[in-house]
Amino acid sequence: MADEEIQLSDKEFDDVRALIYKIAGISLGDAKRVLVVSRLTKLVKARGLKSFSAYIDFLDKRSTRQDKQVFVNALTTNLTRFYREDHHFDHLIKYVGRLIAQPDRPKSPNGKPRLRIWSAGCSTGQEPYTIAMALLGKYPQLKNWDFRILGTDVDTDVVATSARGEYSASDLDGLSAAQAAVFERPTPDTIRVPALYRNLMTFKPLNLMEDWPVKGPFDAIFCRNVTIYFDKQTQTRVFERFAQLLGEGAYLYIGHSENMKAEALGYTLEGKTIYRRLGQANKRNVA
Ligand SMILES: C[S@@+](CC[C@H](N)C(=O)[O-])C[C@H]1O[C@@H](n2cnc3c(N)ncnc32)[C@H](O)[C@@H]1O
Repeated sequence: MADEEIQLSDKEFDDVRALIYKIAGISLGDAKRVLVVSRLTKLVKARGLKSFSAYIDFLDKRSTRQDKQVFVNALTTNLTRFYREDHHFDHLIKYVGRLIAQPDRPKSPNGKPRLRIWSAGCSTGQEPYTIAMALLGKYPQLKNWDFRILGTDVDTDVVATSARGEYSASDLDGLSAAQAAVFERPTPDTIRVPALYRNLMTFKPLNLMEDWPVKGPFDAIFCRNVTIYFDKQTQTRVFERFAQLLGEGAYLYIGHSENMKAEALGYTLEGKTIYRRLGQANKRNVA
């Protein structure tokens, strides 16, 4: 049974695509057929089922929330790395430098200046940890700020990995010596993000298609290489919702192959895949 191949019919492929779209907004193109077979076959077999249609029927009629979560976790693509698309971190450092220089920086109830960043679709955590390491490396005084980073993802497995903050030593490949030196080395094969950075984080599961129980305003939102899996209409809705949570002049960073109609959604394009939140008065009506 373990090695038996299960065939995926056109109808079953369409049903899988419809279900992952309905739950997570993910649009799987025709080319993703092999991916669906390779990712779902073991779930079908683990249930003792013999066909994809039996598995879809199970998800539809008899499954728990956790069963559906396992299905979603299997179909997400979680590729990420430390300092990915590093021009965003260079921009962020300059931007936060300007915020630090502001004499009237908003304060939290504890009297500390407030800084909030959200990594939406953080995968296994390399993106939010890079934000923490880039900013604290440049501005150690942020240790005395009310500085928090929120990392969220629809995939509960990657959220758990993010919270552990432990990775394979091969994740250091491509990093500069200074970037690599920040990590702890619990074993020769593993690296760990030091507590200084882990303590800034809150990681939780969050599906961008559902309610967002998050508290803004955010000074920056990173949502990179996530909406690439969504259709245009879903992307637009997500970018509009981000605009509601960004303070005026705050930034949205998106992935290298993503884009949007900035002005219609309340932003202005400031650099490659870097969008600045306009004030409400500047927002143009969506055409
Ligand atoms: C390719 S990773 C990108 C990780 C990181 N942002 C980066 O650029 O390196 C895409 C992530 O988006 C997440 N994702 C996909 N659909 C989502 C949704 N509806 N809500 C939240 N996260 C989602 C996936 O689980 C995956 O971890």
